[in-house]
Amino acid sequence: MKTEILEVDLASIDITGDLLSQPSWIDKWQLNNENTSCDAGNLRRAAQGLRESDIPVAFPTETVYGLGADATRSPAVQGIYKAKQRPSDNPLIVHIWSLSQLRGLLRPKEDEINADDPIPEIYKQLIARFWPGPLTLIVPNPANSRLAPEVTAGLSTFGIRMPRNPHALALLKLADVPLAAPSANASTKPSPTEAEHVENDLNGRISMIIDGGPCDVGVESTVVDGLTSPPLILRPGGISIEQLRSCPGWENVAVGYQDNSELNSTPRAPGMKYKHYSPRASVILFEHTRKMPSEEEIVQIVQNRTNIGVIRTAHWSPSLGLGKTGHTVLNGASQAHSTCNAEREVVDEIEKIRRFEITKSSLSISLFEIGLGTRAEIIAKGLFAALRSLDKLNVDVILVEGVDDSLGDVSAAVMNRLRKAAEVKV
Ligand code: TXA
Ligand code: MG
Repeated sequence: MKTEILEVDLASIDITGDLLSQPSWIDKWQLNNENTSCDAGNLRRAAQGLRESDIPVAFPTETVYGLGADATRSPAVQGIYKAKQRPSDNPLIVHIWSLSQLRGLLRPKEDEINADDPIPEIYKQLIARFWPGPLTLIVPNPANSRLAPEVTAGLSTFGIRMPRNPHALALLKLADVPLAAPSANASTKPSPTEAEHVENDLNGRISMIIDGGPCDVGVESTVVDGLTSPPLILRPGGISIEQLRSCPGWENVAVGYQDNSELNSTPRAPGMKYKHYSPRASVILFEHTRKMPSEEEIVQIVQNRTNIGVIRTAHWSPSLGLGKTGHTVLNGASQAHSTCNAEREVVDEIEKIRRFEITKSSLSISLFEIGLGTRAEIIAKGLFAALRSLDKLNVDVILVEGVDDSLGDVSAAVMNRLRKAAEVKV
């Protein structure tokens, strides 16, 4: 199968800055039949593929790229598991563009007219504040549900979210079906935050990838369960615990996930038990309470491996202080803004990858390093791309400087992903 990357320029499908600045802009938007632009054609093809074929379509969301299929058709949903090689007991998140779609999914198939609002009260504030956005709600799946059973993997609930990415909303509205969509990576790999990442993992397995540029948030949505008391965060993500706590009914929201869970335990979000977010190279994670590794430690850690990747955040020095001069700036990292100064400086942006050649204890080490700045939002945005870029440079091991996950911001999501990606934590 040929995998095409489809460009869809927003202005060409009548999504202008003006429109985007209006609340509920998606209610007003529609794709004009007279729009014969290539971009409109690409979006129509993707929507038609989703409605009619069983091959999933990859599309951008504000968190990560998703691999979408009509959530109401079993063969289409099976296509996702096949393309990703994902275990079938790991349920999928359903994506919608309107609340009436959600209400339809909360009611049994035959139950068309009903005056009561089926949306659980506990979620109404969250929906008002955070949708569209990176928040997934666990809701009850009715008996005689419209959803294909493969979406829920046998659970009596399902996860639902309304993404805010304009490409995603436009595609959802045009396809006019709820889309089940996990992250569009091959199972176990870091989630994709650019169309090229999807292509690297799924080339030949899917036919279309909508390219909407790099994702805004960079880590997946926060998954919450408000059906329990107290309500739980099942996966930390783009909406922080502090943001949730500021909503009535959510003041006591508790952490219901474990970063270091054993493979054979049964976490509440089934997906959290699998190997995840792992590049080919082994990842060594340093908790933020640990100092930058010393020269002796590094020599011991790298052993006879000579291609070393480093991801720096708040405190580590460039090149781990080993080689203060002589580096080459590579173009490996996208979204990059170069800062070529070897002195430590506070940069709150993603750097380009730099290569240092270092000789230590008769070892010749090639060190490939990327700094992600100090702010959790920026680190989250660049993390998966950094892991993928270092993998492409064939490093053997990646040393990562962790962040403080107790700050209530998205740093908990960053550390959750890193602890799962890491083979060794120090
Ligand atoms: O940001 C995101 O949520 C992305 C984009 C594409 O929207 N999607 C995503 O999907 O991350 P996925 O399939 O990679 O992760 C779904 C997570 C898993 O941890 C899964 O176990 C959990 O949601 N989940 C889904 N349905 C659930 C349910 N009924 N109860 C508990 N956890 C559920
Ligand atoms: Mg995933």
